[in-house]
Amino acid sequence: MQIRVISDIEAISHEAVRIFVMLSKEYIGSQGRFVAAISGGSTPKRFYELLASDSYRGNVEWSKIHLFWVDERCVPKESESSNFMSAFDHLISRISIPDENIHRIKGEYGPEKGARDYEEHIKRFFGISALPVFDIIILGMGEDGHTASLFPGSKSLDEKIRFAVPAYGEKMNRVTLTLPVLNNARHILFLVSGQSKADVLKDILENTEKRKKYPAGLMSPAHGDITWLITRDAAGRLKTIE
Ligand code: 6PG
Repeated sequence: MQIRVISDIEAISHEAVRIFVMLSKEYIGSQGRFVAAISGGSTPKRFYELLASDSYRGNVEWSKIHLFWVDERCVPKESESSNFMSAFDHLISRISIPDENIHRIKGEYGPEKGARDYEEHIKRFFGISALPVFDIIILGMGEDGHTASLFPGSKSLDEKIRFAVPAYGEKMNRVTLTLPVLNNARHILFLVSGQSKADVLKDILENTEKRKKYPAGLMSPAHGDITWLITRDAAGRLKTIE
């Protein structure tokens, strides 16, 4: 596990872009494509914008990049709350990427049908029914230690077989990838910002018992690696920071 504390969102976004560009070149070179699953939330927006910026856009072979999502809210795709729309606004609309490389979760189908549809789509794309291997999964972490739409104490954390499941919430229902899929990725990249996350982050990164209470603490790639890019405010309670 690599933990890197870097000043602010701007800095972690640049570092995330550097990693994304480097890995995309490596995997396109070796397997002809790079398959990423991305998150919603506010932290990755700057990363998406930078990736689409004049400085970086040309360093990525977009026709060979496939974009999936780790989770989605059950709203129309045009909604402000849609994770697809957030990535569309900040990244997809600013680059030239084939439509068939965009693999969104159909939140408008509702939680159960949306999850089934997404799982079928993943199976067709990878051409197998075994657990898919994403090349990179970019995750965020909420103040309660949730990641993707896996919330503390939720039933979806026990899922061993399905790739995508419904996540029912008071405010909104969602669809999320499951723990076995997330932990089967080649690389997991966490982008974490904000002082409000400092206590939970300390539990997850410095307390081997407490970390298991939090979905983000259950991220432990079976065959891959995990990198945490953390802003200085979110790292405020950590003992050892760079
Ligand atoms: C979502 C996410 C979610 C997010 C965290 C952190 O759909 O909202 O996928 O898991 O990554 O809530 O969000 P922030 O980056 O906004 O803190």
